[in-house]
Amino acid sequence: MKSSVLKYRETGIAWQDKQHKELFDRLSALSSVIEGRRAEDGEWLEEFLKTIDFLDEYVAVHFYEEERAMVGSGYPDSDLHMERHHLFIEEMAHLRRDIEASEATTDIAVSTSRRMVEWLVDHICVMDKDLAAYIK
Ligand SMILES: [Fe+2]
Ligand SMILES: [Fe+2]
Repeated sequence: MKSSVLKYRETGIAWQDKQHKELFDRLSALSSVIEGRRAEDGEWLEEFLKTIDFLDEYVAVHFYEEERAMVGSGYPDSDLHMERHHLFIEEMAHLRRDIEASEATTDIAVSTSRRMVEWLVDHICVMDKDLAAYIK
């Protein structure tokens, strides 16, 4: 993803921006997996789920780091921010169960990755930027 595209998402906190960039890079990789799908043998699904696994783990680490910064700084909106993190993790788990339980289609995969990108962009532009402004 081009740096100019990422610019408006920057919070100005180096570790946070670095982790956000990693998340978007992985989401780009997820799109590539879907675009390069080999639907007949289902290999794309295996790769898709592997990338989702990585994202799950990385998101957990990233949220933990942000939550540590909230607690350490006495950030006043930490309850709401943490609740949003928690809801995102739950939503991802739900989407994953749907994908695994259903006849997985690339349409579902596309909507899942879009939903993740939209959520992250909204979250970073509002809540993460607010947190960053507080801890700067
Ligand atoms: Fe974040
Ligand atoms: Fe956050």
